[in-house]
Amino acid sequence: MAKVGVFFGTDTGNTRRIAKDIVTKLGSAIAAKPVNVRNAVVADMLAYDTLILGVPTYGEGQLPGLSTGNATASWEEFLPTLEGQDFSGKKVAIYGLGNQKSYPEEFVNAAFYLYERFKQCGATIIGAWDTEGYHFKASKAVVDNRFVGLVLDQENQKDLTPERLDAWLKELAATWD
Ligand SMILES: Cc1cc2nc3c(=O)[nH]c(=O)nc-3n(C[C@H](O)[C@H](O)[C@H](O)COP(=O)(O)O)c2cc1C
Repeated sequence: MAKVGVFFGTDTGNTRRIAKDIVTKLGSAIAAKPVNVRNAVVADMLAYDTLILGVPTYGEGQLPGLSTGNATASWEEFLPTLEGQDFSGKKVAIYGLGNQKSYPEEFVNAAFYLYERFKQCGATIIGAWDTEGYHFKASKAVVDNRFVGLVLDQENQKDLTPERLDAWLKELAATWD
């Protein structure tokens, strides 16, 4: 069985496309086929030692889900199901999508909500990412001067995504080599 589980939420498909790129880059022996979190239950995640979780930000700095007008349930509906679950010993890496030009005051906030929740469940969060090269005013996803995970902006910095992804995956791979 693959050792890395890849789960994502999405409304317009960007976060799903990145999830597929991640699996292509890591290879199917390492990473499992990406699963939309609306179809997942907690036990599906607990089957892996390492998780890569993708989340776009919607509304005004909120989790994607029905209350932010997404077409389907997403992380907003999934996160409450983590209440009381034990992720100790699990590594969790988060990638967040957002738009720094249109939402400079709440850029990729949703990544923070995943970080906070999985940390509360005892997971070790890996894959913090430098804020250099992004132009925004405020983001909850900055903790100790770094993003809590990889940040991608497909609207304004799409050309930088492949190299950011490669560098981040290389860092992650060093934790399971
Ligand atoms: C209605 C709407 C609200 C958004 N709100 C935010 C936001 O608060 N912060 C942010 O960084 N990006 C925001 N975005 C940008 C999305 O996160 C970005 O387009 C992302 O790539 C969408 O991912 P998806 O295609 O997987 O749904 C918003 C986009 C839309 C359409």
